[in-house]
Amino acid sequence: MKKIDRIIKHHGYRKERIIQILNDIQSIYNYLPKDVLEYAGQRLGMPLSGIYSIATFYSAFSLKPRGEHLVTVCMGTACHVRGAPSVLSRLEDRLRIETGGTTEDNQFTLKTVNCLGACALAPIVVVDDEYHGQTTVNKVDRLLKEYEKKKKD
Ligand code: FES
Repeated sequence: MKKIDRIIKHHGYRKERIIQILNDIQSIYNYLPKDVLEYAGQRLGMPLSGIYSIATFYSAFSLKPRGEHLVTVCMGTACHVRGAPSVLSRLEDRLRIETGGTTEDNQFTLKTVNCLGACALAPIVVVDDEYHGQTTVNKVDRLLKEYEKKKKD
């Protein structure tokens, strides 16, 4: 747990930095493993229940293992009326998972969100931190290939 010690030390052992600490932990594991949260809780003097309540409140945190790439489809009103359900359905078919799932090869996790605040670009798909506006069903394959290729490079 040396990496976790380093993160906690970097944040000055301060409980009020818990969101940043969780963020740093997630950047290592791509999710928040229970044993790591228990350890962090002990080091910070925080109960695991308190850490869980923060980790579950923010949608950016995941308590389940996630794929290398996080694919987020906006299902807010603007994206919905401009075709997001078809885009989501295509992604589920193509990845052979349902929303909330992770592909067997651990490459992709698929989730939805309600309005990313960029409705002019609807429908939007975000892969990791990259926004892809005006996404269509036809663009889905190309988009996934782009990220599959990034893995091989
Ligand atoms: S509804 Fe999708 S960005 Fe607003």
